[in-house]
Amino acid sequence: MLKGRHLIAPCDFSIDEMEYLFDLTKRIISDKNYLRQAANGKIMASLFFEPSTRTRLSFEAAMMRLGGNVLGFADAQSSSTSKGESLADTITVVQSYVDLLVMRNPKEGSALLASRYSQIPVINAGDGGHHHPTQTLTDLVTIRELRGKIDGITIGFCGDLKFGRTVHSLTEALSRYANVNLVFISPSELTIPTYIKRDILKKSNTQFIETERLEKVTGDLDVLYMTRVQRERFLNEEEYLRLKDFYILTPEKLKAAKDDLIIMHPLPRVNEISIKVDSDKRAAYFKQAEYGMYIRMALIAALLGVV
Ligand code: CP
Repeated sequence: MLKGRHLIAPCDFSIDEMEYLFDLTKRIISDKNYLRQAANGKIMASLFFEPSTRTRLSFEAAMMRLGGNVLGFADAQSSSTSKGESLADTITVVQSYVDLLVMRNPKEGSALLASRYSQIPVINAGDGGHHHPTQTLTDLVTIRELRGKIDGITIGFCGDLKFGRTVHSLTEALSRYANVNLVFISPSELTIPTYIKRDILKKSNTQFIETERLEKVTGDLDVLYMTRVQRERFLNEEEYLRLKDFYILTPEKLKAAKDDLIIMHPLPRVNEISIKVDSDKRAAYFKQAEYGMYIRMALIAALLGVV
């Protein structure tokens, strides 16, 4: 069904295709031997022009768990990009070596560009402040696994909603589900971009509100999606320092929250969730990172057509 496809943006796959991946992920979670060796003999290129821990390592672990091989780089300086090679040339060459390309790049639109030069599937592992569709798959499968369904959810996004690509991608994906309520919690300097409100949420009739005060809305939420202030996207370090600790989630601030709240974070965390919250049964961010590997196994297998 998904064999040979690219994944560049969060709505590239239909809801039915996403459900197929979620079901496949559930099967992998319940039987860790399922799909072992399915990608035997296949090679994945892991091209990371920007730092990563979870995305890169979970992709590489996913491919290895499927029995496939991995090559690539974790630092643009060790590739010929540092000598001035264009992305188009890099992709044209690497796609002739492997069966699947995973790329993170600081330039918005780079994944789409890469897909135009590739005869094999390209997966966007993050392009600047734009999109991170496999984080979205991770987030949706986490909600589905922990809550049973995605429809009808009230989700609060808290922190840097301006630069946070995981928020942009998840918001767009959620706009396709029924009765979803979005609560955007940010300082006025880091609000969700206007194009998302105007072109995605208003067009799809998705309900949303914006506030600066987390404590005002905590009790209404089914999911609280915390985010890091994205230092690397700021032009002004002073502004980053002023805003970086605007929200720090603590056990006290969760007193008004629902008992079955799901606390998520794409990670890495800096200071926005106190480590005291980690032992709260509602903290799901490490489980979320683990689910990210399972859904990447499902995605790789589907794009390679080995399932
Ligand atoms: N969530 C996420 O993309 O983490 P990394 O930057 O560590 O890959």
